[in-house]
Amino acid sequence: MKITMTGTGYVGLVTGTCLAEVGNDVLCLDVDARKIALLNDGGVPIHEPGLAPLVRRNIDAGRLAFTTDVDQAVVHGELQFIAVGTPPGEDGAADMTHVLDAARAIGERMDEWKLIVDKSTVPVGTADRVRSVVHRELARRGLRVPFAVASNPEFLKEGAAVEDFMRPDRIIVGADDERAIAALRALYAPFQRNHERLMVMDVRSAELTKYAANAMLATRISFMNELANLADRLDCDIEMVRQGIGSDPRIGWHFLYPGVGYGGSCFPKDVKALRFTAAEHDVRMRVLDAVEAANDAQKHVLVEKIVARLGESLEGRRFALWGLAFKPDTDDLREAASLTIVDALTRRGATIVAYDPVAITQARGVLASNARVEYAPTPMAALDSADALVIVTEWKEFRSPDFDAIRDRLRLPLVFDGRNLYDPALVKGAGLEYFAIGRR
Ligand SMILES: NC(=O)c1ccc[n+]([C@@H]2O[C@H](COP(=O)([O-])OP(=O)(O)OC[C@H]3O[C@@H](n4cnc5c(N)ncnc54)[C@H](O)[C@@H]3O)[C@@H](O)[C@H]2O)c1
Repeated sequence: MKITMTGTGYVGLVTGTCLAEVGNDVLCLDVDARKIALLNDGGVPIHEPGLAPLVRRNIDAGRLAFTTDVDQAVVHGELQFIAVGTPPGEDGAADMTHVLDAARAIGERMDEWKLIVDKSTVPVGTADRVRSVVHRELARRGLRVPFAVASNPEFLKEGAAVEDFMRPDRIIVGADDERAIAALRALYAPFQRNHERLMVMDVRSAELTKYAANAMLATRISFMNELANLADRLDCDIEMVRQGIGSDPRIGWHFLYPGVGYGGSCFPKDVKALRFTAAEHDVRMRVLDAVEAANDAQKHVLVEKIVARLGESLEGRRFALWGLAFKPDTDDLREAASLTIVDALTRRGATIVAYDPVAITQARGVLASNARVEYAPTPMAALDSADALVIVTEWKEFRSPDFDAIRDRLRLPLVFDGRNLYDPALVKGAGLEYFAIGRR
């Protein structure tokens, strides 16, 4: 099939590449000329395991190309995917500017049947708005060209995006047009050879499903974070509690890890957007209000532990910080807890020596104005002349460190672990003081 992917970010690039991998002819469009130039030069602008060789293979096979040329992009695809950003506006509502711009660009140029597929995470009713924008543009041009709009929200996880796209748990299609449903069934057939994973539903329910999934996951995280804070006060071990409840199949094991709060480009903005939608319709979502408030507070818990141990003023203190990305296997820093923690520590006078396996380049940009942040080439190098170690992202390479070496390199034997990576007895056995989340 001939596919155009408007928006070549985390979702668009992965989706476009994976669709090319199974034989489709994919053209990815973006307004960011630097990104497209990099891709056309053989580079890949994001860190995503397995993505770079896949991009290269499909470019070489002639199935994947990149452009900034909107005319070419609209002519190319019978299927026009919209995978642009939907960032939060000032009021928390999802900003639809990019989605509607993309829709307008299609309406301004199309002259034969197109299926427009909303892959971005968008509020309920967006497909109708996209349809009206396209209708308006066609009417302006005096044309009556048939087209369909479908919702196909994306559930991939950054850090495992290629794997998730290639082996999806489910594929949600919101559509009421038979031709559109048939086209999407055919498109996704290669990704569900083992058993049917595609669910067809009405467009509005599909749009809500995406927000519901992220809101549910955010809820589990905030609930566990609050439980961990209580466990701290009650002298309980949240790790034992986690295992005790995770073994209940009604609860399950996933998303029960307490930490320094959820971040990333999705959960924070999607919880906000869903709250906004609810408020617009006079529906109070008390649980979600609390999920967001709990998360905002949780991003400060590790700093509170540091202040409780070292005092309010951290003037002259130096902290080794392991992990900047909002989660492992990505270089994405959007809404990362590390940013809140770095800001809080440096405002109190501390300096930071940060290490991250892939996110340092991004961090140099995002934290450019903070002169109190330096970067180390290895985790152990970050420890030299630091007062304490602060762990923010659970990268695999932090899981089994040499605790004796950590103790010897640090000025004070202090480990503040925002991801509960270690057995407290092991860390304490090496002569380190260990502060984790809800672990006594
Ligand atoms: N990142 C994730 O893990 C993830 C997962 C599921 C769903 N989503 C949703 O997918 C959407 C995209 O997210 P992302 O993380 O890929 O965003 P992103 O910021 O990485 O990429 C968006 C891209 O769209 C481009 N763009 C903006 N306006 C454009 C236009 N008019 N024409 C062409 N290109 C345009 C931008 O330049 C950017 O490269 C969002 O709605 C997000 O909520 C994201």
